[in-house]
Amino acid sequence: MHAYRASLLRFSPEGEALFDDDGLLVTAPDQAGVQRVLAAGPHREVAARHPQAAVTHWPGRILAPGFIDMHVHYPQTDIIGAPADGLLPWLEHYTFPAEARFADPAHAAEVASFFLDELQRHGVTTALTFCTSHPASVDAFFTEAQRRRLRMMGGKVLQDRHSPDGVRDETEQSLIDTEALIRRWHGQGRLGYAITPRFAPTSSEAQLRGAGELAARHSDTWIHSHVAENKDEVRWVRALFPQARSYLDVYQGFGLMRERAVYAHCIHFDDTDRQLMRETGAAAAVSPTSNLFLGSGFFDYAGAERIGMRHGLASDVGGGTSFSPFHTMLAAYYVGREGQTKPGLSLPPSRLWWNATGGAARALGLAGVVGTLQPGTEADVVVLNPQATPLLARKTARAQSLEELLFSLIVLGDDRVVERVLVA
Ligand code: GUN
Ligand code: ZN
Repeated sequence: MHAYRASLLRFSPEGEALFDDDGLLVTAPDQAGVQRVLAAGPHREVAARHPQAAVTHWPGRILAPGFIDMHVHYPQTDIIGAPADGLLPWLEHYTFPAEARFADPAHAAEVASFFLDELQRHGVTTALTFCTSHPASVDAFFTEAQRRRLRMMGGKVLQDRHSPDGVRDETEQSLIDTEALIRRWHGQGRLGYAITPRFAPTSSEAQLRGAGELAARHSDTWIHSHVAENKDEVRWVRALFPQARSYLDVYQGFGLMRERAVYAHCIHFDDTDRQLMRETGAAAAVSPTSNLFLGSGFFDYAGAERIGMRHGLASDVGGGTSFSPFHTMLAAYYVGREGQTKPGLSLPPSRLWWNATGGAARALGLAGVVGTLQPGTEADVVVLNPQATPLLARKTARAQSLEELLFSLIVLGDDRVVERVLVA
């Protein structure tokens, strides 16, 4: 058993932020050796119930749930900040050449290790990531995640058309490889497999159909793709799939909408699309730094809220510009203000933080597993230093409320705030 004393930020299962100035978090291992939260709350109360726990005291620090990145591309680590006219030229000029290098297992292993170092340094303990079309890229990623005992999801990209040599796969083999990778990795410790058609334009109908069949046979795997990110992309999909009502409807037609289906972007949607997301239990991965960098557009938070479409936050590195959840939350705040229709704070800081932790977990189908520090959940914990810079120390000392404290961290924070990360 371990116990940690510091300020404590946690969330109710419904998403209410709970804060104890002087808190205590007690953890104990489960049968698999994963530390889980046994108790969390005010120090006075929790310590009285667990007098035998040896306490580590971190005065002035904040314990909080590890952050969750709902959509990222580990193979794009080296192309952050590659400028382009928009999504499609960016894919052609930077992304596909960078991903072609992942045919080499040694390159994949080196990038996977750097990527996970970087996630952990930024306090991200769970991510849903694209790999590349090469099965070796998946083995490299999961091998490294397993070594670190991280809760991670990923999968082989499916792209059998409109893709250059070096990243294009072959329809039948791609589905055979996907099923073999599901059997090798899905449910191994804390790992989960994601069936990953890149996006509708780069998969044949046969490949999308095969992906949907795999998703039905392996119903607790994830499905991971992109939708309605960029206007040129939307036009292209309309030309390729004239029978579909909308871009999203293409995925629905191939059995790719269900719980644990995660679609990045969801920008150029109408309410019928949002309703389809809600009815099927699919979730949107909102990637504001990517959407601003590539000029894709603005996610409609009010629309998501009105319809009840599940969503959470994502970096989308390398379209996204930062691994830092603080940067992602701040960009989401800007975008929320841009589209604001009602008075008041459209995205209060505690909501942004929820969207990067427990809310993201819920959207991913991981409610009760990670993201809240509720008793029974896995103990992925970040230890934050609200005095990491002189300005942060000054600002956070003056905070009059939890919202003010969280806002200071979101606006001024980055990896310097993340002092330690406790994994399971
Ligand atoms: N759509 C298809 N592939 C990609 C990708 O790699 N990044 C982004 N942002 N959108 C995509
Ligand atoms: Zn993406």
